[in-house]
Amino acid sequence: MNLHLQNVLSIIQQDENLPAEQKAAIIKSIKDADKELEITTFKLDRTEKVKRTTAILLEETIQELELKRKAVEESNDALQKSLEELKAAQAQLIQSEKMASLGELTAGIAHEIQNPLNFVNNFSEVSKELLDEMKTELDNGNLNDAKDIAGDVIQNLEKILHHGKRADGIVKGMLQHSRSSTGQKELTDINALADEYLRLAYHGLRARDKSFNAAMKTDFDDSIGLVKVMPQDIGRVILNLITNAFYAVTEKKKLHPEGYEPVVTVDTKKTSTGIKILVKDNGAGIPQKVLDKIFQPFFTTKPTGQGTGLGLSLSYDIIKTHSGEVKVETKEGEGTTFIIELPVNS
Ligand SMILES: Nc1ncnc2c1ncn2[C@@H]1O[C@H](COP(=O)(O)OP(=O)(O)O)[C@@H](O)[C@H]1O
Ligand SMILES: [Mg+2]
Repeated sequence: MNLHLQNVLSIIQQDENLPAEQKAAIIKSIKDADKELEITTFKLDRTEKVKRTTAILLEETIQELELKRKAVEESNDALQKSLEELKAAQAQLIQSEKMASLGELTAGIAHEIQNPLNFVNNFSEVSKELLDEMKTELDNGNLNDAKDIAGDVIQNLEKILHHGKRADGIVKGMLQHSRSSTGQKELTDINALADEYLRLAYHGLRARDKSFNAAMKTDFDDSIGLVKVMPQDIGRVILNLITNAFYAVTEKKKLHPEGYEPVVTVDTKKTSTGIKILVKDNGAGIPQKVLDKIFQPFFTTKPTGQGTGLGLSLSYDIIKTHSGEVKVETKEGEGTTFIIELPVNS
């Protein structure tokens, strides 16, 4: 019993003046008060314990949260790192797509250089013979004949120079293709650019696969004049479209060896707002399911090693940078036309 209540109880019990009935009532009240006090103390004690456990739990939760925060921070760092790695890998892939298209061009370029080289060799040989003849004429004192021969040699040297320059131009063009874009727009002869890539792509395919053949047709609108574009980039787009077109007609030819004439057409047109470049093939066309995805990076229906799936997505980006549009018209079994629209802001 509580010590103070115990004291009060003893005093009451010893009091002889208090009537017995009253004494009993007071003693009962004291005992009840003690019981209530005991219960309250117990409750208080329990609350204290709960408080202490809660504090411990709270402390543990805070520690756990801190650990979790650190883990999130670490995985954030890891994510950031893999994002950077992904970006680097993407840049690498774009570079390898460029290299792949350069590979496609190599055979065409070799073919294109072979012609001027043949001229240079032949004319050099003929000029050497002519100079031998000239020496004989000079020895014999035939000055007029010697002069005529000198005139022929001069003409030959002019031709050698002309063809040498042509080969030079082809090599420069190739280097320009492999270089990354300067990002500078230049006044460009789109018709010449399209013609050059059409021939390079064609001879490239011919050189690698003798059985390959397709009619090339062009309809260039001379009135489009010079257009301000990034020539390497637009050249790359045209090359991608032409390569895809040749691939489509070659595949169809494999399925229909008889009675099918593969044709790839490149047209240019002046419009009210700019110019259009159309690359058309009479291949198998593109089914709707495939059509929905052709501009996605890495989407390809070609066997491994033959397609990177980057050609159209890169082309799309290039045309967007030129504020232009890429459109596709296709009919299954009949062929496909890719249309590039470029605005001309003079
Ligand atoms: N002229 C076309 N005819 C039929 N299908 C085409 C043509 N051009 C593109 N495609 C389809 O679009 C896909 C993506 O083309 P592209 O981005 O150039 O990548 P890749 O040529 O490496 O496959 C091709 O795999 C093909 O399925
Ligand atoms: Mg392609």
